[in-house]
Amino acid sequence: MTKQEILEAADFDYTKFVRTRHSVRHFTGESVSPAAIKKAVSQAIKTPRTCNREMRRVYAAYDGPLRDHLLTFQRGNVGFGHNLGAVLIVAVDLREFDMIGERNQCWIDGGLFAMSLVFAFHAAGLGTCMLN
Ligand SMILES: Cc1cc2nc3c(=O)[nH]c(=O)nc-3n(C[C@H](O)[C@H](O)[C@H](O)COP(=O)(O)O)c2cc1C
Repeated sequence: MTKQEILEAADFDYTKFVRTRHSVRHFTGESVSPAAIKKAVSQAIKTPRTCNREMRRVYAAYDGPLRDHLLTFQRGNVGFGHNLGAVLIVAVDLREFDMIGERNQCWIDGGLFAMSLVFAFHAAGLGTCMLN
């Protein structure tokens, strides 16, 4: 990439973008399309990752019994969980790490990826709230 390409791509109000991201707890109850989730995931994939190994996984439950069952595993969604358009689980496959010193790397890679995912949804006008 050229410096010019980077400057053009970064020519927007980033401060406004990050300052308008908030955890959302008042959802419309509308469902979220798998296409919207896939687009956000495809953007978040650009997040740095250990040794450029792909070990990040995203599982999506859109509505109904599976979504509600997943939400029973944590209590921080009480009051708004029933209105979520989708619940995503970000996971990291530890089999891609090969030494004891890398045992915590999943939290770093997963955390970085999750934050990128949140910003991708923010860019798409979709509210999010991290849980757990
Ligand atoms: C790992 C993690 C777990 C969180 N768990 C919950 C939760 O269970 N319920 C909730 O309402 N918010 C949860 N949050 C959202 C935080 O409360 C929120 O990010 C924080 O108050 C800052 O507000 P902001 O996201 O609007 O900037 C969580 C955030 C993180 C990073």
